[in-house]
Amino acid sequence: MKKWIQAFTALCLMLTVLFTATLTVHAEDDSLQRVQDSGQLVIGTSADFPPFEFYAGEGDDQEIVGMDILIAEKIADDLGVELVIQDMEFDSLLPALETNKIDMIVAGMTPTAERRESVNFSDIYFQTFQNIMVRDGDKEIYDSIESLAGQTVGVQTGTLQEELAQQIPDVELMQLSNINDLILALETNRIEAIVMQGPNAVAHAENSDTLYTFEGEFELDEQDQGSAIAIRYGEDALVAAVNESLAEIAEQNLTEEYLATAGEYMAQDSDEGFASKYWSYFLDGTLMTLFISLIGVLVGLVLGFILSLMRLTKNVIVRFIGSAYVEFVRGTPLLIQVMFIYFGVGIFFNLPALTAGIIAVSLNSGAYICEIIRGGLNSVDSGQTEAARSLGMSKRQSMRYVIFPQALKNIWPALGNEFITIIKESSIVSVIGVGELIFQTRIVRSASFEGILPLIITMLIYFIITFTLTKLLNYYEGRMNHD
Ligand code: ARG
Repeated sequence: MKKWIQAFTALCLMLTVLFTATLTVHAEDDSLQRVQDSGQLVIGTSADFPPFEFYAGEGDDQEIVGMDILIAEKIADDLGVELVIQDMEFDSLLPALETNKIDMIVAGMTPTAERRESVNFSDIYFQTFQNIMVRDGDKEIYDSIESLAGQTVGVQTGTLQEELAQQIPDVELMQLSNINDLILALETNRIEAIVMQGPNAVAHAENSDTLYTFEGEFELDEQDQGSAIAIRYGEDALVAAVNESLAEIAEQNLTEEYLATAGEYMAQDSDEGFASKYWSYFLDGTLMTLFISLIGVLVGLVLGFILSLMRLTKNVIVRFIGSAYVEFVRGTPLLIQVMFIYFGVGIFFNLPALTAGIIAVSLNSGAYICEIIRGGLNSVDSGQTEAARSLGMSKRQSMRYVIFPQALKNIWPALGNEFITIIKESSIVSVIGVGELIFQTRIVRSASFEGILPLIITMLIYFIITFTLTKLLNYYEGRMNHD
């Protein structure tokens, strides 16, 4: 009991250290110098937001385009550096900025008072308005904020619109992190309306026969009508540089030009079929998913083996560490582990998203594999050890030549199941922007304006992989039983 208290205290201490470290890593302002020295301006965005940022292009050449991207390009140009874009979910942007994953957020972000408490903002570069999106067939029924009273309304998680929607009387909110999912929810009658930023709603409505949008008369602060670029506190040199570029953009009226360019991208309609246009995304995603899973089980196997030995030794402390690890990892969701390693540990080591994802998956599967191996070893009758020992084998020898080969029979199929589980679970690393299958599916969905078809394809891909694997495993299992 005492040990648990000790472990708990240790854990709390660790978290406190980590937390204070986040608060204190503010050095003097070398932000501008840093960006220029690195030769790169890394911006974070959430590319589900036409005409600000969205995917467009032909076939394999899907890229993130839009007004914000053109603005970011101008800023990078003015700084004399290359622009690097990191796409992620909107509600991951602020954490990514605060943990130094990106230099700034360019995502049509509103500089609300609440956000200003944690980050700094550039000048406002675009004045916007707030819309309500409904199905075309409902435009007579829903024509105002009041008409939506008591209805289910969709909003993007972590956005200003999430707050604005509360102005609808008795509203029932549906919060999703991707705008394309909201559109799908509206089209399939899950929700009655979506509160969206004006130009974004207009862009979607223009691309669809089934959607209709109108301006909502929401009450909001003057500053909440605009978009600005978010930068970390203390990086005033960078803010000043950004404001200079923005001033030039305003002076030369470039925003209009940028918007027009974005509009052209949206209008681009090729008659290439869906499959020929997007197959490479599914392929890339599938390969990435397999890669992450494979590395995950392999590293997990090594880790699991070590852990299982730790759990089987006589040394109390070693045993305790082993079981504490297993219990802790199994007792917390993989989602949190992925985010913790990427954002939390990332304060000390700037891990690329893929590395962070693989580490999280490996550490996670290590705990499960440990239990698989331990269970397998325990399942071998203790008489076997006794017999081996009485034949004069050392402990080691009996483990190696008698116990382990028999245990393998039980371990093998469970290990296969673990691999299958990881293939599906690894989809979670998409939250930090790793380009595995789910992430690629999201790109296809936003580039194609197709809600369901990409989901069906992805489902089939997962099924084909896991089913083939099951068959393969069964085959080998069968052979093992005959030997
Ligand atoms: N302007 C809104 C906000 O800041 C929504 C921005 C959403 N942006 C995006 N790229 N999805 O909360």
